[in-house]
Amino acid sequence: MSIQAEARRVTAPEIRARKGGEPIVSLTSYHAHTAQLLDAHVDVILVGDSLGMVMHGLDTTVPVTVEMMIVHGRAVVRGTKRALIVVDLPFGSYEASPVEAFHTAARVLKETGAGAVKLEGGVRMAETVRFLVDRGVPVMGHVGLTPQAINTLGSFKARGRDDVEAEQILEDALAVSRAGAFAIVLEAIAEPLARRITEEVAPPTIGIGGSAACDGQILVLEDMLGLAPRVPKFVKKYAELGPAIEAAVSTYAQEVRARTFPGAEHVYAPKAKKAD
Ligand code: KIV
Repeated sequence: MSIQAEARRVTAPEIRARKGGEPIVSLTSYHAHTAQLLDAHVDVILVGDSLGMVMHGLDTTVPVTVEMMIVHGRAVVRGTKRALIVVDLPFGSYEASPVEAFHTAARVLKETGAGAVKLEGGVRMAETVRFLVDRGVPVMGHVGLTPQAINTLGSFKARGRDDVEAEQILEDALAVSRAGAFAIVLEAIAEPLARRITEEVAPPTIGIGGSAACDGQILVLEDMLGLAPRVPKFVKKYAELGPAIEAAVSTYAQEVRARTFPGAEHVYAPKAKKAD
């Protein structure tokens, strides 16, 4: 991906057209400041419902609300000019019916300014994806490990490692593809399955634990920056910001206690008195 100076938003159809071409670069962001840092380097920024776990200390994404997604989605849109912003529809806000999903998605797009939504699920959500796309809502699909289903899945372990489950996940991806999703996230699935799905579906696949066979990649920003204490196998840490932050805070605390911070250079002098 080349750094582009032009301040025009990437669109969902442009991402759709990247199938089999230059890999799609995506990361999550939940706030204006980090989103601004990512904007020139990525194609897609996902305001993922992982924000419930990463930012709010929840054990799962299940309690995340539409209001939380809107607050963070708005901040990310404000911090960016170029990347396509995709906002997750949280658990309980879209599954009951296509109409419910449309109302939630419309609210998210209107109140955040994002360009698309993402929802989890394959065959069971295909009708909803079609309903949304037909009404002007670009949808990113998400199959494989679907964290919102943690209470039925029982764990966050990788999916599709046996033939039966692999066939189900392929069917899920094909259903979402036929329903008109502009891209599909493949989370934590075996490499041969990710390769097969990528070959068989129409839109680009975006892997997170889906191998380099996918048409693009996404990671949770805090995981790849080394801010999370434990990360899944598929995460590569590109920095170790956790220890760097702790070291900075520890030095600050020592300097405040020793009264060596603030130094003379951080202190305002009174205005010089005018001569009579
Ligand atoms: O919520 C999220 O961050 C996601 C990514 C893991 C794809 O859905």
